[in-house]
Amino acid sequence: MNALDFALACPKAELHLHIEGSLEPELAFALAQRNGIDFPFASVEALRAAYNFSDLQSFLDLYYACADVLRTEEDFHDLMLAYLRRAKADNVIHAEIFFDPQTHTARGIPFETVLRGLERGAATAQAQWGMSTRLILCFLRHLPEDECLACLDEAMPFIHRIHGFGLDSSEKGHPPSKFARLFERCRATGLPVVAHAGEEGPPAYIHEALDILKVDRIDHGVRAVEDAALIQRLATQHIALTVCPLSNVRLCIFQKMEQHTLPQLLAAGVRATINSDDPAYFGGYMGDNIRAVQAAFNWNVDTWYTLARNSLEASFVPAEQKTAWIAQLDACRAQA
Ligand code: HPA
Ligand code: ZN
Repeated sequence: MNALDFALACPKAELHLHIEGSLEPELAFALAQRNGIDFPFASVEALRAAYNFSDLQSFLDLYYACADVLRTEEDFHDLMLAYLRRAKADNVIHAEIFFDPQTHTARGIPFETVLRGLERGAATAQAQWGMSTRLILCFLRHLPEDECLACLDEAMPFIHRIHGFGLDSSEKGHPPSKFARLFERCRATGLPVVAHAGEEGPPAYIHEALDILKVDRIDHGVRAVEDAALIQRLATQHIALTVCPLSNVRLCIFQKMEQHTLPQLLAAGVRATINSDDPAYFGGYMGDNIRAVQAAFNWNVDTWYTLARNSLEASFVPAEQKTAWIAQLDACRAQA
């Protein structure tokens, strides 16, 4: 097996995936029709043509507009199942999936409608394909902290059905420190916490996410290479970064994949993982990310093994589960 075949075939986890960002244009149009919504794009092709982003905000504007077609429990079920079907094809055995309740509750969709739809999709994938999933509730950082605290209050009756908390949306001008009180309350639930940091924002935001929010992983974090002491810290403290290569190129964090900082992160011993972020918008799913990275860097089986192993080790499942999955990964490698 060559290195690319191994990378695609081996069991792995996806740890950075916004379920709303897996809404393909075809499904968006189908849901708009099913829900009788006047969707502001003429065709699937016209919508895809709008996927021409200059930065994070230009993407987020479209991402929130498209989320408007998600109205019913069935819609969230269909969205989840469609993503998991694609992920399975790339041998993702476990996915920790972000959802943005504020995007939906602000439109009058009850929190429980969103949650039940996503859970039902996940249950179908578990039953049909044995896939494991976790749900991570993400707060929208462009909104005031008080609104995020209200969202947490709304989520509390369902806390046993949620597996962690995250922070996403517009990064610049919304530092982690804005959410100190919110994350203190999140951590008090005993669930793990993560935050997007160092995607467009500076390395200082990564330090803040670690020191103030006390996150268990950093989402993106690719700008850490600008701060040598931070890189050292991430490596020695085994802090995982959920890196999203195609996303970073599509949002112009890097002009070309060859300029991506993944090789520097790996060389420094940082626990980096590969993920798809918003696959419907950024040119693809886990496998597409792997192919794009391999085309740029031509890594060997050892490096791809490290990346897959990092993804399983950095997941929020019990240690025994990780050990069992790593044994599966080792068996796959033995055949490579
Ligand atoms: N960054 C920040 N917020 C997001 C993203 C992202 O890549 N995708 C969806 N919300
Ligand atoms: Zn993201």
